[in-house]
Amino acid sequence: MRLGFAICLLPGMALAQQVTVSPEDGLAAWDRIFEVVSHPRCSNCHTGPSDRPMWSGPSYGQTRVHGMNVRAGESRIGAEYIPCRTCHVTAENARNETPHAAPQVADAWRLAPVEAHWFGQSSETICEQLRDPERNGDRTAEELAEHLDHDVILHWAWTPGGTREPAPYSLEIHIRDLRIWGNAGQPCATD
Ligand code: HEC
Ligand code: HEC
Repeated sequence: MRLGFAICLLPGMALAQQVTVSPEDGLAAWDRIFEVVSHPRCSNCHTGPSDRPMWSGPSYGQTRVHGMNVRAGESRIGAEYIPCRTCHVTAENARNETPHAAPQVADAWRLAPVEAHWFGQSSETICEQLRDPERNGDRTAEELAEHLDHDVILHWAWTPGGTREPAPYSLEIHIRDLRIWGNAGQPCATD
């Protein structure tokens, strides 16, 4: 009898113990996450169903689609058109100091998956997307945080070089915020 009771309670208790951050602090962390993911250094590649990367942010002047009629295609790497790597060379220790040169990182330069649609999207929409396993690469908030630390494109976004404006805060703060948001149960303003 006692044992059965304990088994019934345990899953709920485990869940309650994981949620250690208040919804308010979770939403405050989300607001900072949104500032990052909506920043041009991130959203220029997260263009969703459109297969056209964007050129936006202070160093570009006006917001427009990537020049030279570049399209990413279904491959997201431009395999059907001009491959991204024609100009965005995959290079270790790339310096990216020349303004208006194509950024280079030690990974294949490509567009983000269609589901991760952030360019021009609201905070609420992106929040719902990032907590939906069907649309976030089947990752928990903790798995997202760990994944980002190993992503060289992310490291570039905070040290883009040239005249490009880095993404706000820092990679460390962004990863910390993802963990805070996760510990709060991934709240969104729509809840
Ligand atoms: C013909 C050369 C060329 C090809 C092909 C190309 N790019 Fe670019 N790309 C550039 C140049 C040059 C810039 C920088 C323009 C500037 O700073 O004014 C750039 C900038 C970008 C940016 C903006 C980065 C930022 O936030 O500052 C993104 C995103 C991007 N490219 C994605 C892609 C993707 C994805 C592909 C393949 C589908 C691709 N590019 C193919 C030349 C190219
Ligand atoms: C050069 C294009 C590019 C830029 C710039 C870029 N990303 Fe991405 N992003 C990708 C690609 C490609 C993937 C899919 C590959 C993967 O998941 O490792 C991805 C996936 C992700 C994912 C996985 C979530 C999901 O819904 O699939 C997150 C989170 C993410 N990016 C965050 C960021 C953040 C934060 C920034 C800016 C600091 C950023 N990205 C800038 C190309 C980019």
